[in-house]
Amino acid sequence: MDYHARRLKPFLEYPFAEIDRAKTEAAKKMRVVDFGVGDPDIPTDKAIQGALVAALHHDDAHKYPGYAGEPDFRRAAVRYILNRWHIKLDHDREILALIGSKECIAHLPIAVLDPGDIGCYPDPGYPVYKAGIALSGGVPHALRLRPELGFLPDLGEIPDGAKLVWLNYPNNPTGQDAGEYFWREAIELARKRGFILVNDAAYVELYYGDRPKGPLAYGGKDVAVEIYSLSKSFSMCGWRIAFVAGNADIIAALGSLKKNIDSGVFRPIQYAAITALDNFAELIPPVRKIYRRRIEKLRAGLEELGWELFPTPATFYVWAKVPGKISSADFAKKLIERAGVVVLPGSAMGPGGEGFVRFSLTLPENEIELGLERLKKVEL
Ligand SMILES: Cc1ncc(COP(=O)(O)O)c(C=O)c1O
Repeated sequence: MDYHARRLKPFLEYPFAEIDRAKTEAAKKMRVVDFGVGDPDIPTDKAIQGALVAALHHDDAHKYPGYAGEPDFRRAAVRYILNRWHIKLDHDREILALIGSKECIAHLPIAVLDPGDIGCYPDPGYPVYKAGIALSGGVPHALRLRPELGFLPDLGEIPDGAKLVWLNYPNNPTGQDAGEYFWREAIELARKRGFILVNDAAYVELYYGDRPKGPLAYGGKDVAVEIYSLSKSFSMCGWRIAFVAGNADIIAALGSLKKNIDSGVFRPIQYAAITALDNFAELIPPVRKIYRRRIEKLRAGLEELGWELFPTPATFYVWAKVPGKISSADFAKKLIERAGVVVLPGSAMGPGGEGFVRFSLTLPENEIELGLERLKKVEL
């Protein structure tokens, strides 16, 4: 008996499933070098762990947390945004705690789209943007990220009547960032056309040159929100904590939905996250340094082998052209089978990713060296 509802049918196969299967097979024969998933190997800082343990001992730790997030957590989010972009948000109306950013990406379309409304998402992009729009009854519309435009979408391709536009800079999977001109244009267009602009800022702290900014930094609070995940910046993927910041009306809609779906984030996790946010200036630079070294090592090795790479101004991903005339999925499968090296085929992130692969640098330098050795020897 198949109990899956029709709306779920297009999403039964998680895009990374095929790679996972090939990886499991290869692991039976050799040690696999995994550049596939963006799950930081660097442990969560001890100060954050300590804050969790201390908060566990509060007498009310076990109780239902408030729907919007602890006021102390939301105030810490306000301090963080103030520090970053010099804008002061209201912790009651302009910040909402999230159970990780994925939760918001899946839920926000349900809160703001009516059936048939158009929601735009980047292609290639994190697959949940499209899934969330479709599962809400909205109509997903892909915005292609092309190399000619530095993997920015052509904003002229946003259809009339679009109600929601997802963007994600710094970008997964391409590692690119968007500059001031792009953001100002996106904000202007959102005002003119009346769509909600959302930047998924999951990688905002992982940069190696200019500090990435988004719509809030450029005065777009009247039309935009940004999602700040602690997963990548603070190596807290499994903790499930993030927040959305910006336009109060968008946040109110999401909050009304969430009251019907979840009961908030475990309080001790929120208190640990306060320690993370309040100490970002000390905690993040050493992490950035580690990723930078890894990125430079991989890029140098791949370039020596003749790979065509795109710049990596931010994130922990290196975006590369598939060498030769082969699909990205077939190429990635061959690499696993013949070299025990896992990369993400660009097509797993949408048709716009075809022709590219993504290397995630969430593995130590000795593994990167081993991976490069294998790539040197492999016949493809
Ligand atoms: C662009 C992007 N957004 C969101 C997420 C989900 O992050 P979280 O752990 O906050 O749910 C990821 C995870 O890989 C991501 O790459």
